[in-house]
Parts: sequence; C-alpha cells; structure tokens
Amino acid sequence: MLSLMRQATQALRRPLLARANSSYAVDFTGKTAVVTGGTKGIGRATVLKLAQLGANVKALGRSGLEQFADVPNVEGVYCDLGNTSEATEILNGLGDIDLLVNNAGITYLAPLETHDIAEFEKVMTVNVTGSLVAGQAAARSMLARQAKGAIVNVSSQASTVGLPDHTAYCVSKGAMDQLTRMMAVELGPRGIRVNSVNPTVVLTDMGKAAWSDEAKAAPMLARIPLRRFAEEEDVVDAIVYLLSERAGMVHGAILPVDGGFWAA
Ligand SMILES: NC(=O)c1ccc[n+]([C@@H]2O[C@H](COP(=O)([O-])OP(=O)(O)OC[C@H]3O[C@@H](n4cnc5c(N)ncnc54)[C@H](OP(=O)(O)O)[C@@H]3O)[C@@H](O)[C@H]2O)c1
Repeated sequence: MLSLMRQATQALRRPLLARANSSYAVDFTGKTAVVTGGTKGIGRATVLKLAQLGANVKALGRSGLEQFADVPNVEGVYCDLGNTSEATEILNGLGDIDLLVNNAGITYLAPLETHDIAEFEKVMTVNVTGSLVAGQAAARSMLARQAKGAIVNVSSQASTVGLPDHTAYCVSKGAMDQLTRMMAVELGPRGIRVNSVNPTVVLTDMGKAAWSDEAKAAPMLARIPLRRFAEEEDVVDAIVYLLSERAGMVHGAILPVDGGFWAA
C-alpha cells in the first residue's frame, strides 16, 4: 500500500521535472571556433575541449602548430599578434567564425622605474591590440552572416589590482576588461555575446615564470580564500559556459575564476 502511494506521488511529480531542461549538455557541432594562443597552456586546453564538444577549431599561435596535425577538428594556424598588420590579414582570412576566444597573452616583469617601454608596448600590442583585431575579424564574420556568435576574452585577476613588477600586464588586462565592455555594448544589440574570464594564477609556462618562486607564491596563495591556484580546466570550464547557450543572458560579464581573490 505504502509503495503504491509512493509511486502515485512520483507520477505526479514527473511533469514538473519535465519542465526543466532535459539536458545540460553543451554541443558546439557545426560551429567554427578560433582560439588565439591556442598552442600552449589555457589556450591549448580550450582548443581540445571545444573540439571534443564538436566545434571545428582554429588554434592560432606561432609555434608548435604541428601538434594538431592528427587531432580531429583542429587546425593549427600561424598568427603572430605582435605584428598587427600581418595578424589582421590572417584573421580576416580565416572565414566563418562563430566563437572566438581571445586568449593569447604575454607578460613582462620589471619594477616600474625600469620598465622597458618597448617591452611595455609589446605586451599592449599582443594582449590588447591583438584582442581588438581578432574581435573585429570575428564580429565582421558574425555580422555578415547574422550569426549569433559569442566571444570570450581571457583577462586576469590582475585587471583590477596592482601587482608589483606587473605594470605592463596589469595595464593591459585593465584595458582588456574595458574592451570586453565596449564589445558587449556595441555587438550585443546585433546578437553577439561578449564576456571575460579573469583567472588567478595558473601554473602554465606564463604562470610558472611569474609565480614558481615559493616566497612570491605564498603571499598570493594567502590572499586566495580557496587557498589554491587555478587549474587550466577551471578556466576552460568557465570559457565553455560563457560560449554556450547556457549563458544566453550573460553578457558584458567580467567573471573571476580566482578562488575568491577579488572578494577578499
Ligand atoms: N597563467 C596564469 O597565471 C594566468 C592568469 C590569468 C590570466 N592568464 C591569461 O591567460 C592567457 C593564456 O595564458 P597561459 O598562462 O596559458 O600562457 P602560456 O602558456 O604562456 O601561453 C600563451 C599563449 O599565447 C601565445 N602567444 C604568445 N605571444 C604571442 C604572439 N605574439 N602572437 C600570437 N600568440 C602568442 C602562445 O603561443 P606561441 O608561443 O605559439 O605564439 C601561447 O599559445 C593569457 O592571456 C594570460 O594573460 C594567465
């Protein structure tokens, strides 16, 4: 008798459950994604995840492009964002773009008073101008096809705080956040979503160069409430979410992936 009542109650509940999304799966089949700085670190992990989720991916970079020769759905494309005019030509020639991840980035560490201006300008060219140029190419492709595209800029926790020796990097990431807002304001009305992820330290090649010294890493870790640095996958998961239809109403967001660094 009791089990009959339980079955009847469950049958009544089922229509309510059916109103929820039947699947939370993300599927990028039929989409073309471009990932700048797709050859290493966060960018490479993003390339592989997007390909696994069905996208055709163009992984841009200057080195190690041959690693994708046997990877289904991935094409390595040479593109040096330090050379703006050449990069513009390459980006404009990529064809249809549905998803863009502006991930390529470099850093340069030196005290403010000896910060080399040529190095400062190189960081700004790759991190900021490179993201704008790639964003323009993607926007033009999406607008020409009236495609509902999505763009994610990979910024940093460093965009809103000053970190010793990181002048070029912090300035470039602050500018990237403003670029995200500008892209969101101008492209949103025409169906293109733009957001940013702002990770804490990830021990990629770049992360190791800046944070592998324990004496430097310990105070940074102490400022992160979750008491760990991010893994590449932490950042990739946030990028995938923001690119996907699951984030259909998320636009112009500057999303920390920082274990609470900004909250502390
Ligand atoms: N690691 C961290 O702690 C951390 C934290 C927050 C945010 N981020 C951001 O995350 C992004 C990825 O960083 P990562 O840690 O994965 O760095 P990474 O391992 O050093 O990889 C950087 C990528 O950028 C590409 N790149 C560098 N210079 C380039 C240029 N002139 N033209 C085109 N591509 C260029 C590199 O490719 P090639 O060498 O093949 O050109 C590489 O694929 C960056 O925007 C970075 O600022 C990193």
